[in-house]
Amino acid sequence: MSRIAYVNGQYVPHGEAAVHIEDRGYQFADGVYEVIPIVNGKMIGEQGHMDRLWRSMDELQMDAPMAPGPMKIVMREVLRQNKVETGLIYIQVTRGVAPRDHPFPLDAVPSLVMTAKKTSMDAADAKADKGVSVITTPDIRWNRCDIKSVALLPNVLAKQAAKEQGAYEAFQYDADGNITEGSSTNAWIVDQDGTLITRPTSNSILAGITRAELLDLLEKEGIKVELRAFSKDELMNAREVFLTSSSSYVQPVVEVDGKVIGNGKPGSISSNLRGIFKSYMQN
Ligand code: PDD
Repeated sequence: MSRIAYVNGQYVPHGEAAVHIEDRGYQFADGVYEVIPIVNGKMIGEQGHMDRLWRSMDELQMDAPMAPGPMKIVMREVLRQNKVETGLIYIQVTRGVAPRDHPFPLDAVPSLVMTAKKTSMDAADAKADKGVSVITTPDIRWNRCDIKSVALLPNVLAKQAAKEQGAYEAFQYDADGNITEGSSTNAWIVDQDGTLITRPTSNSILAGITRAELLDLLEKEGIKVELRAFSKDELMNAREVFLTSSSSYVQPVVEVDGKVIGNGKPGSISSNLRGIFKSYMQN
């Protein structure tokens, strides 16, 4: 089956989908995006993702390409045409096409592109059963990481460094030696006393929807979380480490910079939280 993309009002074969060379997303990374997970036909955290998309556009004084209601209809149509039951939908909004000039163009119409792809829960489970390794790397990004901008070059470099070292993700650390977040994930630890710790939201990290959903679930379960920055040292000496994102859900980490965490197998708390998160998505 050929994939279908949505591009500015049209559903087109994925291979033929294109935007203009003077799209500001292409020239200036002047755009924002969202990645929303779909599990068994259900969009997970849809409202949170829509709210964050609108917040990103507002922060960049970017007009929305359409109202949220119509956008949700397009999202469902993209999923339907691509027959995605479990997978991801990608939504990108840019400031539109205009002759190259740094200031905002006066009359550009925002561009909207959507794609969808299938993913496998079995493959995700296999990865979670084994655990993944991460590396650490200096955070060289700007100080508006709360905006989900398509300007992802530092994230790309961090992920590439991880890949070259055979790791799944790179946790970035700030000038104080505290972990900010992964290149496309939020970072969590469980300390030796069994306390869950994750960094509070600020301009230094993306307010992950998976992170927020997991925090809600933890509150319902009566499990306490410390919202504070944790150091690279605390990370290395944690009892458990895990990461969260729309594409990884809750993913246990078993190695950091070559050092084995715990006994080298996914920790019981991380695995339990993955289970809780999975049943939240599947029910
Ligand atoms: N990444 N931090 C960063 C820098 C991210 O890019 C992401 C998401 C997250 C996790 O956020 P959420 O739980 O809302 O997915 C944290 C997406 C999946 C991506 O770029 O593919």
